[in-house]
Amino acid sequence: MMADPAPVPKILVLASGSGTNLQALIDSTRTRDFPGEIVAVGCNRPGAFALERAAQANIPTFVVNHKDFTSREEFDAALLAEILRHNPDAVVLAGFMRILTRDFVRAFRGRMLNIHPSLLPAYTGLNTHQRVLDAGDAVHGVSVHFVTEELDGGPVIAQAEVPVASGDTAESLAEKVQKQEHTLYPIVVRWLCEGRISLDANGVSFDGKPLAAPLVLPAD
Ligand code: GRF
Repeated sequence: MMADPAPVPKILVLASGSGTNLQALIDSTRTRDFPGEIVAVGCNRPGAFALERAAQANIPTFVVNHKDFTSREEFDAALLAEILRHNPDAVVLAGFMRILTRDFVRAFRGRMLNIHPSLLPAYTGLNTHQRVLDAGDAVHGVSVHFVTEELDGGPVIAQAEVPVASGDTAESLAEKVQKQEHTLYPIVVRWLCEGRISLDANGVSFDGKPLAAPLVLPAD
């Protein structure tokens, strides 16, 4: 008799918007040897295109609309209940635009990733492309980090750089950064599924060794 194959890690993606990162993850996880499977997509906005992308890919979806709740705690409790129904090994935030409560974040410590359009710790928060232009920075980029209680402040795992060209606008930078996001996020999600990255009291470890600085994907 053949031994049962090892269980495939279950990934749950949370999104709020257009879901281009979700699409990149769907496409990657559907390749033959990807070590994880997207089991559900959750969203806080009923009309978000991310839901359409998931439906097209036959991935179950759920909506927990933040407008239906009077407090962040109640919203998070409802969201958590939906997530737990799918029993995921990893929660991947892909343009999920709600700030999560401490208890929620703790429930998935070391198992929840976020992608942010800047070279963290620079430019947490919104409007990163314009802020990079206003500061006259030569290099911009994207970061994937473990989610902790600090907004956009969890330990960074990997980054991809985007050189700022003269004539770049917030829109052109956004486009270049998104292209890098779609390459970087599937790589890091793969590492998480393979158990190659972990989070402990000292920060991120990669292949069992503490990561002194984020891994950097060079600009193409
Ligand atoms: C991305 O730029 C990501 O960095 C940020 O939100 C955006 C989501 O875009 N957190 P999409 O919905 O994946 O297209």
